[in-house]
Amino acid sequence: MPCKRLVFVLLVGLSCASMEVRSQLSPTFYSQSCPNLLRVVRREVAAAVCNETRMAASLLRLHFHDCFVNGCDGSVLLDGSDGEKFANPNRNSARGFEVVDAIKAAVESECNATVSCADILAIAARDSVVLSGGPSWRVLLGRRDGLVANQTGANANLPSPFDSINSIISKFAAVGLNTTDVVALSGGHTIGLARCATFSNRLFGFSETSSVDPTLDSSLASALQNLCPQSADGNDTTGLDRNSTFAFDNHYFTNLVRQRGILSSDQGLFSSDEGVAAATRELVLKYDNSTWAFFCDFANSMIKMGSITPLTGSDGQIRSNCRVVTSPTRSYGQNYVADTANKTTIRDIHLSQYHIHKTPEMPTHSDLELDQKEATRRQLYGTIRSMAAESPMGTCGQKWKSNNGNKQIKARMRKKEEI
Ligand code: HEM
Repeated sequence: MPCKRLVFVLLVGLSCASMEVRSQLSPTFYSQSCPNLLRVVRREVAAAVCNETRMAASLLRLHFHDCFVNGCDGSVLLDGSDGEKFANPNRNSARGFEVVDAIKAAVESECNATVSCADILAIAARDSVVLSGGPSWRVLLGRRDGLVANQTGANANLPSPFDSINSIISKFAAVGLNTTDVVALSGGHTIGLARCATFSNRLFGFSETSSVDPTLDSSLASALQNLCPQSADGNDTTGLDRNSTFAFDNHYFTNLVRQRGILSSDQGLFSSDEGVAAATRELVLKYDNSTWAFFCDFANSMIKMGSITPLTGSDGQIRSNCRVVTSPTRSYGQNYVADTANKTTIRDIHLSQYHIHKTPEMPTHSDLELDQKEATRRQLYGTIRSMAAESPMGTCGQKWKSNNGNKQIKARMRKKEEI
């Protein structure tokens, strides 16, 4: 095993009340067609998280950003300047695409043209949570990949850290998620980082009466002002759940109760009048008091989020490369290299689907970009694979080796604070 995971896995659903999610998805969807799928994805996610602890957070967020735009259809993964990657919430922010490429390549070599990129994201998100010390759940599978990205939808539907709590609740309601889902899923911020640009409005010139957000603990405000001077570019980062940045636990809610939330949209769940009225404050207190309640609700809400308008049956397709729509004129087995060799752009593929033909032209910028990306992908994939092969219990293995359970791993991860 490339990276030994010795945290306790809580298979939520055994004893916590699980919500019935009606969908055409099934946890056994690939049990005949790709029986080793879950093992392959877990191995690849473990290698990536060993390589960079933060990657667990980045993969979890990718699944969220996928599901909120056109449903969970892998649309966030599509390349192209008009894609979701360049929408405001994702530009310079969403990450982990190369890791998804590596997982997809491993899955393709296990069972060619069978598993969707959307399903890979859902499994990788679950594995990321488990590898960070959080709950497990049975991932519903059988999603198919979308044919288009929706940048406008990403700008409009993804919640912003500057949104009011009511606006966030509305955005969740628009995809069938309720207030409990808002608070439980916001608990995803128990892992990962945020850039200064996403919260520095709380630190300087906040309002006419107070230059700093009064719902932000004053010593934390000073530390963040040092981290994020107004003269800087806003790309420095801090943990969303300070003092427990990479451990999946309920400490994020403890921080909210202590006015130590980083994003205004996080702290608002506890401190805003809207949060009191909508009972998000009550839920924060509940999860602060009970890790178990948080884990149960989080797992249930992840299953609900993962079931947002999936493409199933013969809708959509199984992409052979998560970054581009597979041409309908090619067999599924043909891969990305064939795409780049033919100089096929995403736009070409879209046009061909609608039977519109462009006149032949010189390779475009995006053609060249694809070539470059493929080279980078291959280089990275090779590095990860050799790292995993060479150090089954090596540098990364050591880090996880002596954990007897959540307590030890969390204590260790808390020490890994930045600033
Ligand atoms: C409730 C509304 C939400 C808002 C307003 C929000 C906003 C944000 C923002 C602004 C960041 C930092 C981005 C940056 O620095 O560029 C972030 C990071 C993150 N978000 Fe959310 N988010 C929300 C919900 C969620 C949900 C539902 C999940 C998953 C279940 C999630 C998981 C994450 C994770 C794991 C990170 C860290 C990613 C990393 O370190 O790469 N968020 N979020």
